[in-house]
Amino acid sequence: MLDAGKIITELQVMRDDGHLSDALLRKAVRSLSVDERFEWTGVYLLGAENELWLHNYIGEPTEHAKIPVGTGVCGRAVAERRNLNIKDVSKEENYLACSPDIQSELVVLIRAGDDIFGQIDIDSEQKAAFTDDDEIALIGIADKLAEQLAAEKREAS
Ligand code: SME
Repeated sequence: MLDAGKIITELQVMRDDGHLSDALLRKAVRSLSVDERFEWTGVYLLGAENELWLHNYIGEPTEHAKIPVGTGVCGRAVAERRNLNIKDVSKEENYLACSPDIQSELVVLIRAGDDIFGQIDIDSEQKAAFTDDDEIALIGIADKLAEQLAAEKREAS
């Protein structure tokens, strides 16, 4: 079972030590991927061209290095500005398959206020693998990542 509180604390310690978003995004994926339900765990970031680009992941290689907003489950989450918990990916018309073994997918946005920075994307080989509690846990982690991304955006402007 996912210990989101521990992961969030570790991410905050990294922030306090001066680590930047790149390190935090990699740490979050590493920490999440220990859950045995999470066959593929990754982070996509929203780029300038209204496209998501794959920042880092653990799992099988994927051809979906870039995903336009609106395309697939990942792109739709951004277009609709909401998290998506897809219980059975075979019933999705707008779905980009990574591997034929994947049955369900959870996408949680990394956002601060109106700013969407990207998303955490998790795939499972079980149908309906993800619960509301998983979504809440991931929101906590995504919010901590968004805090750092928002701070870096402020500094850059
Ligand atoms: N299934 C996603 C694509 C990303 S892969 O799962 C890694 C989608 O439909 O957008």
